[in-house]
Amino acid sequence: MKIAMIGGTGDQGIGLAVRFVKAGESVIIGSRDIKKAENTVDLIKNMLDGDEARNVIGMTSEEAAAEGDIALLTVPLQAQMVTLRNVKDHLENKILIDATVSLDGCIGGSPTRYIEVWQGSAAERSAEFLKDKNVKVVSAFNNISAASLLNIGEEVECDCLISGDDAEAKKEVITLAEKIPGVKAIDCGPLENARIVEKITPLLINLNIRNKIKLAGIRITGL
Ligand SMILES: NC(=O)c1ccc[n+]([C@@H]2O[C@H](COP(=O)([O-])OP(=O)(O)OC[C@H]3O[C@@H](n4cnc5c(N)ncnc54)[C@H](OP(=O)(O)O)[C@@H]3O)[C@@H](O)[C@H]2O)c1
Repeated sequence: MKIAMIGGTGDQGIGLAVRFVKAGESVIIGSRDIKKAENTVDLIKNMLDGDEARNVIGMTSEEAAAEGDIALLTVPLQAQMVTLRNVKDHLENKILIDATVSLDGCIGGSPTRYIEVWQGSAAERSAEFLKDKNVKVVSAFNNISAASLLNIGEEVECDCLISGDDAEAKKEVITLAEKIPGVKAIDCGPLENARIVEKITPLLINLNIRNKIKLAGIRITGL
């Protein structure tokens, strides 16, 4: 399975990409700028052993979306719609994993505050925009920090809370998420529950700031 990272050149995209490549998955780093994608591929290869780093290449985000079997959106809220507009035609009938968090920081405010979007959550905003292409949007990886993903010598101490309306798509995303050591993936029900899950992220950012750390995460117990 080829995973297309749309906007995969930022911290979250690189963090997820490096974990997936390390787990043996085939990853395409997508960017608006092919040179930036290629530089990110070099960065990822430098982070991994030679053998581990075979399956990562760089493309434009449009090419990556066309080439990938599954796409993962890792752009800030202010880039969400413009990015999806550019790749929409290539996502038809595919799964789009949306890691976008609707943070006030994206519009010049505080990173510890959530902002409401009309659709209820960033993931539902993607789903509304892509519904005529039968894209199965799954919200995931919103609460896992890039810092913990990039800390590749250690397991990630955070659950991956997954919301979506297509059961098969969620199963695929759960399988993918659990390839990251330490991550337990939890089916949190329909996509509308992304409204709750996305709101946890500004709380975790707040806890990082208050405790002068970078690795705050969340675990659900008792399941
Ligand atoms: N960072 C974290 O720890 C973390 C944790 C959980 C969830 N998230 C969520 O994951 C998403 C990505 O986070 P990030 O920290 O990786 O973001 P980022 O570094 O700010 O941006 C990621 C990529 O998005 C593209 N981009 C940025 N601004 C853009 C704009 N105005 N127009 C079009 N494209 C733009 C860029 O890709 P190109 O220039 O290559 O096209 C950039 O490298 C966000 O929604 C964030 O809330 C992040």
